[in-house]
Amino acid sequence: MVSTAAPIQIEDSVTEFLKPPRKMLIGGQWVSAASGKTFDTYNPATGEVLARVAAGDHVDIHRAVAAARKAFESGPWPDMVPADRAHLMWKLADLIDEHCEELAELETLDNGKPIFFSRIVDVPTAAQTFRYMSGWATKLEGNTIPISAPGAKYFAYTLRDPVGVVGQIIPWNFPLIMASWKLAPALAVGCTVVLKPAEQTPLTALRLGELILEAGFPEGVVNIVTGFGETAGAALAAHPGVDKIAFTGSTEVGKLIVTAAAGNLKKVSLELGGKSPNIVFADANMDAAIPGAANAIFFNQGQLCTAGSRLFVHNSVFDRVVDGVAQAAKKMRIGPGMDPATHLGPLVSKEQLDRVCGYMDSGVKEGAKAVAGGRKVSGPGYFVEPTILVDVKPEMKVVREEIFGPVVTVIPFRDTAEIIASANNTNYGLASAIWTQNFSTAHRVAAKLRAGTVWINCYNVFDSALPFGGYKQSGWGREMGHQALELYTETKAVCAQI
Ligand code: NAI
Ligand code: MG
Repeated sequence: MVSTAAPIQIEDSVTEFLKPPRKMLIGGQWVSAASGKTFDTYNPATGEVLARVAAGDHVDIHRAVAAARKAFESGPWPDMVPADRAHLMWKLADLIDEHCEELAELETLDNGKPIFFSRIVDVPTAAQTFRYMSGWATKLEGNTIPISAPGAKYFAYTLRDPVGVVGQIIPWNFPLIMASWKLAPALAVGCTVVLKPAEQTPLTALRLGELILEAGFPEGVVNIVTGFGETAGAALAAHPGVDKIAFTGSTEVGKLIVTAAAGNLKKVSLELGGKSPNIVFADANMDAAIPGAANAIFFNQGQLCTAGSRLFVHNSVFDRVVDGVAQAAKKMRIGPGMDPATHLGPLVSKEQLDRVCGYMDSGVKEGAKAVAGGRKVSGPGYFVEPTILVDVKPEMKVVREEIFGPVVTVIPFRDTAEIIASANNTNYGLASAIWTQNFSTAHRVAAKLRAGTVWINCYNVFDSALPFGGYKQSGWGREMGHQALELYTETKAVCAQI
């Protein structure tokens, strides 16, 4: 049963925002889709329509790319000094903080996540991302290069140029954070952007667009086109006027992006799926490892590319850890995100609900046993129980494929060599974690894991300064940190004979 304690009172500004069909931001103006079409976005806690949004397609993408090109080549943006770009970004961060409650409510209503997390994770992280990246605007340095070519003297140096017009396609699991991870580094270096939010969760990006205008960004620097992946997204990935495409989402669509980008060989960065190993050694501090393993898979309803979905536990402590995580699962309060007491909200959509339930069924059919959960929660809304599967085999779909729901498979191991091989036995390589009190074990295993992130005695610790991205089919490139600047700049070598 879904808990039905009193949800919070929605702010008036949010109620007002949800009323009219929401338009798209192109060239500094709020516009309808050229086709006049709209689509509905749903409240996943009830399955009811939440708001109506412009359904942009290739025509609107074309308009937005033209606006972004114009803003990149003329107007105030290309001549703006770095300190002024930084100032605009800092102002935007302040506006995000000022509107924290409103953004948090919109995020929870649209995505389903508990309001508690929207307030303390999603909105502050978005603000912090703009602040951190704003600092790089004034620190984009090149090098001076000693030249050995004979017969003359040279003075040579490098410049970091913005790559140009950037297309950015983002998913629905952290809508506002994903918008900030994409926009902030691109704006810091002087690019202009066409952002395509996920069709499931367009609302906070649109509110962010209003704040971007309020902060004073010149028209056309940020354009936001709402619409579906197959139409708006595909048109953006293929557009010959786009210099670079940045994508976060499924590995399947990531491959389509690469193909679409081949037309004009636009630069590509991808942050894709994961099947992250979370490894508990026998000597782990269980007071940290057990709740850590539960949070690793249940945070954000498991809709996290870094979700600790393959929990490996040393066989000597297997039962204790399984029992501990199962107890944590059973204590979780499932309910609407707008209820401040909720731990686990609904999944984002009916489609995601069906997908996750399909995986739970396939796991059990292939011989896995659910020691907690395993079912959809009855009633309206897209709720599933936090689920723990044991007796799983490496070849099962639930072990190999990204589920993107609160479903963990728990697998015993005997020794370090075995666990390294099992942990790396995946097409993905996004994140991983190790729980042990042995310093040597921790760092020896960290060195061997084929993943872009290794957490030791913690999980899901993100920071604007920590590079984030995947090995193998989890993606191309690193977001965050100074590495993110590489995604949005070209290096120019200038060589002068003196
Ligand atoms: P998706 O990859 O289809 O959607 C992500 C974004 O890509 C959305 O903005 C969507 O409109 C866009 N898109 C879809 N098809 C496109 C196309 N042909 N060309 C350009 N853009 C396109 O992901 P979906 O269908 O929402 O979820 C499916 C699975 O993907 C999930 O179950 C999960 O396993 C994975 N996923 C991973 C995410 C991550 O953070 N790495 C985020 C979201 C989903
Ligand atoms: Mg899809």
